[in-house]
Amino acid sequence: MFRVPQLTARVSRMAPLRAPMPRTFSTSPITMANGKVLLVLYEGGKHAKEQKRLLAGIENELGIRKYIESKGYELVSTTDKDPEPTSTVDKHLKDAEIVITTPFYPAYITKSRIANAPNLKLAVTAGVGSDHVDLNAANQKKITVAEVTGSNVVSVAEHVLATILVLVRNYNGGHRQAVNGEWDIAGVAKNEYDLEDKVISTVGAGRIGYRVLERLIAFNPKKLLYYDYQDLPAEAIKKLNDASKLFNGKDDIVQRVEKLEDMVSQSDVVTINAPLHEGTRGLFNKDLISHMKDGAYLVNTARGAICVAEDVADAVKSGKLRGYGGDVWDKQPAPKDHPWRSMNNKDQTGNAMTVHISGTSLDAQERYAQGVKSILESYFSKKFDYRPQDVIVKDGEYATRAYGQRK
Ligand code: NAI
Repeated sequence: MFRVPQLTARVSRMAPLRAPMPRTFSTSPITMANGKVLLVLYEGGKHAKEQKRLLAGIENELGIRKYIESKGYELVSTTDKDPEPTSTVDKHLKDAEIVITTPFYPAYITKSRIANAPNLKLAVTAGVGSDHVDLNAANQKKITVAEVTGSNVVSVAEHVLATILVLVRNYNGGHRQAVNGEWDIAGVAKNEYDLEDKVISTVGAGRIGYRVLERLIAFNPKKLLYYDYQDLPAEAIKKLNDASKLFNGKDDIVQRVEKLEDMVSQSDVVTINAPLHEGTRGLFNKDLISHMKDGAYLVNTARGAICVAEDVADAVKSGKLRGYGGDVWDKQPAPKDHPWRSMNNKDQTGNAMTVHISGTSLDAQERYAQGVKSILESYFSKKFDYRPQDVIVKDGEYATRAYGQRK
């Protein structure tokens, strides 16, 4: 008979001592286990006690433990993801059938981890952006990679707007004086601009990039530019142009630009909204940044590794870029000495970095937790009837056009 499994907590002994201690929860006793699901989440700690809606903390396990166990699967959830190959993730990936991870605290499902995971059939991203899985290696092993497309795109678009405003309005400079007991208006105003009448561009005009453009209309920009190998549908461009005409009295403000260098050389603000893949890794390096306008701003909430960290930090320090902001880092959690933590311009106002929070608002958590459950439902039912937009790779092939142009 299938017995209702109990939740047991144990502290991993394998990981080095650090704060907070890694935690692992397992189904126990295991009876009629059809297979193992491995779930990797960040520590919620006291915050999970204070806020019950914090579904993406390890304590709440996306609200899916009972559901998974009701299907006769064992669930192991852990915060202990690094280092490879000695973490709890490595230990349990060896016989896991499904792994669920978040981009905010990613367990990197590398080629070598995939090679050591013979039973792995499905990798689910609780959120959007599955670059933490080696997608080519997943294809070789015919592992399906699925994410909850659209679940946090509004959350990120809002964060992009917030970051642009923090930088352009020199919010940091004014805020620092407010809390430090200072009053030097000129010291802030000399670096403070209006967003109105500026040229703003996006690299990638998919769900997030388009929502960023939509929201920017309210600020009456001079031009909105985009660079993407996929055309925006004509009706989507018309919607933006009509809104610009209606609210700002300006026609035809949206333009697609064929060459990235041409776009960044015209832009006062560039935002990056494309996935990380072979074609975008390290894209914003010293060379591309040299094509940007002097004193432009760069905002990246897509993936840290799309930018070369040292090149961006150097550009901010030298004043080539007036500021850089975003919430994504090339390795997460980012090391304490990551150059983006300390980079700044000479007035200490050009850093608008946060930790990876833009896509994990409580509203978004509800959506991607529900989306993960739907993906699991499709898998457990053996119908494999995933929402097409959720599937990144399947049956050895890329199912999306967003991760680079492929034959
Ligand atoms: P999407 O798939 O709707 O749009 C991505 C767009 O980027 C597509 O139109 C694609 O053609 C384009 N693209 C791909 N490679 C490109 C290249 N080399 N140059 C120009 N355009 C290129 O994806 P969505 O939902 O807009 O998300 C985009 C990315 O944002 C995700 O892949 C993820 O990395 C990141 N993201 C970050 C979050 C956060 O919390 N900071 C949350 C959600 C997504």
